[in-house]
Amino acid sequence: MSATPMNQPVKGYKNPNLPVNERIEDLIGKMTLEEKVGQMNQFVGVEHIKTNSAVMTADELKNNTANAFYPGFTEKDIEKWTKDGKIGSFLHVLTLEEANYLQRLAMESRLQIPIIFGIDAIHGNANAPDNTVYPTNIGLACSFDTTMAYTIARQTAKEMRAMNMHWTFNPNVEVARDPRWGRVGETFGEDPYLVTLMGVQSVKGYQGELNGKEDVLACIKHFVGGSQPINGTNGAPTDISERTLREVFFPPFEAGVDAGAMSLMTAHNELNGIPCHSNEWLMTDVLRGEWDFKGFVVSDWMDIEHIHDLHATAENLKEAFYQSIEAGMDMHMHGIHWNEYVCELVREGRIPESRIDESVRRILDIKFRLGLFENPYADPNETMNIRLCPEHRNTALEAARNGIVLLKNEGGLLPLSKNQYKKILVTGINADDMNILGDWSAPQKRENYTTVLDGLKQTAPEIAFDFVDQGWDPRNMDPAKVEEAANKAKDADLNIVVAGEYMMRFRWADRTCGEDTDRSDIDLVGLQNELIEKVAASGKPTLLVLINGRPLGVEWAAENLPAIIEAWEPGMYGGQAISEVIFGDVNPSAKLAVTIPRSVGQTQMIYNHKPSMYFHPYVVKPSTPLYPFGFGLSYTTFGYENLTLDKKQIKPDESLTVSVNVTNTGKREGTEIVQLYIRDKFSCVTRPVKELKDFARVTLQPGESKMIEFTITPDKLSFYDKKMNKIVEKGDFEVMIGSSSDDQDLQKEIFTVI
Ligand code: BGC
Repeated sequence: MSATPMNQPVKGYKNPNLPVNERIEDLIGKMTLEEKVGQMNQFVGVEHIKTNSAVMTADELKNNTANAFYPGFTEKDIEKWTKDGKIGSFLHVLTLEEANYLQRLAMESRLQIPIIFGIDAIHGNANAPDNTVYPTNIGLACSFDTTMAYTIARQTAKEMRAMNMHWTFNPNVEVARDPRWGRVGETFGEDPYLVTLMGVQSVKGYQGELNGKEDVLACIKHFVGGSQPINGTNGAPTDISERTLREVFFPPFEAGVDAGAMSLMTAHNELNGIPCHSNEWLMTDVLRGEWDFKGFVVSDWMDIEHIHDLHATAENLKEAFYQSIEAGMDMHMHGIHWNEYVCELVREGRIPESRIDESVRRILDIKFRLGLFENPYADPNETMNIRLCPEHRNTALEAARNGIVLLKNEGGLLPLSKNQYKKILVTGINADDMNILGDWSAPQKRENYTTVLDGLKQTAPEIAFDFVDQGWDPRNMDPAKVEEAANKAKDADLNIVVAGEYMMRFRWADRTCGEDTDRSDIDLVGLQNELIEKVAASGKPTLLVLINGRPLGVEWAAENLPAIIEAWEPGMYGGQAISEVIFGDVNPSAKLAVTIPRSVGQTQMIYNHKPSMYFHPYVVKPSTPLYPFGFGLSYTTFGYENLTLDKKQIKPDESLTVSVNVTNTGKREGTEIVQLYIRDKFSCVTRPVKELKDFARVTLQPGESKMIEFTITPDKLSFYDKKMNKIVEKGDFEVMIGSSSDDQDLQKEIFTVI
């Protein structure tokens, strides 16, 4: 199918042989103001509206915008607006059929400008059914495997294009610094360096050359600071110094821009008193002025509206639109008033049409580059050859295996020998539920995911697994079921409790973790602790497996159980991967990309804190984390020797090489994630006690050694001085290499910048 009938000559902007710039200029010259402003507006799809109207009351339909309903505006209106060329983009379109349908309507419009479809493809295009579901970003980050991040993004791009989706609202490159916040799972954790590398590879994987039929537009989000909300809740105010912004929160965004990310989403929150959606400093001075961003900025859900109705820095909606555009906004997610008010603002002379043209050029640029004018549709006959194909499924399985963190393994309980245990009790809310897919996932067909119970049965068919179902809902666990598990534990040889959080979006109000699902504690919800304690009271070895999108302070389990596995949100093959780890078919290798605090009272608990953080430690309870950043066990052991620097002194513009010998000192093959941290010993402004500056994944046979080399370049030593200039300061630096951020796991050496 083509946008231009065969018998019509292809000319002007429709001519694919013209340079994109010429096509844009030709098209923009033909567009009315209404059509331009329409390109800057996004809507939710008609099916989304229909689904909501089926479940909402008449009153809710009239007043509620949270579920994306446009009061007084029907799906017929949406269809008409599309045909009239007044809508540039849709989101929450979940099927190929609907995407093609809406695109056909756009092809009936005067200028036939194709729609760009955006979707939250956060870990695969999981928000739509029948796609490969990879682990969420936090698990991916724990693998420290940046190549995997690239591969997943690449495969996701192909699956998206196969269903006519062109733009993912990922990667989320926020640096997560609060475990109460429900969105930790969609981030790459707490370390700016790791987040940066993961984000960059994701951007590259999604976008490819940003010109083919297999490429999609990436969106780095949310700019900025929402991952350190003052009370832990999503969208709450953030108050962050410019120093911390530049040291911690900006680097992944700047690197994303450098990697070619061509869209960026602003954050729900206000930053130091100014809503991010009307923040000129962020959107214009920093993003375009300092970083030379050439793509377009999209608002987040109803957040331009919130400049008026929540932050109250605009007296009405029209003023909110004005402030946002003036600050640098290019596209509005989502709603019906935009077109009318923005056109008025231009006609009144408050916004010059040239400003509108700037945004429209940026949006059209992407549509041309992605080839949407030539290929506005996806082929329904081809789609399932790409989605869920064996190659993508293998990647999902491999990524799940590599993202599972073994937190505790006392007495070498794991891996379980298949001969030793005849009867195993399996219980817990996450033992047999599709919640294993994680946040940002629609329900998937039963055959498209494995639960832990499925995985155990598959991996060890010779063992009898006794399953006590605790339901999926942590808030409504049945005490009788807890008792039943406690009793059955006495007859079992070993117990596996699969606990954690509940993330499935289709039961939005019942979730305990995920977007808009923040908590005032980080304990296990409901009767889960009671279940663990009662099962463990059987005296039989008890293994805890956690499925969750935020750190959980499982202090009792850490002190009393022999083994704990943190699986995060491992995706469609999560159950299989976890079982392979339990029985030793897979040797775990992942390391924590985020600190696990003991309790919420320890917030903010991060490994790269400032020196005075624990000068006066907490009384009564410890000031140490439950598990530190970078920590994770293996079924083998690794030794570190001969930390060597090629120079003890360097000039500020010089690099040095540091090497270390890593040996597999255990009995089986294993992968170690070798971590390099740096501390500036004395500096003109306070600096973190350590910062991750490099890492390597190395696979070693038993007894095998490898020399791992890292180059410390000036940018790894630089920081912002008192006047916010980036410098490398003279003096001593400590370089630390080892298996986690914990001092006792690190070898240390000093070098001097002279
Ligand atoms: C989230 C964004 C997301 C958007 C569209 C918002 O509520 O904050 O991350 O991309 O919804 O689904």
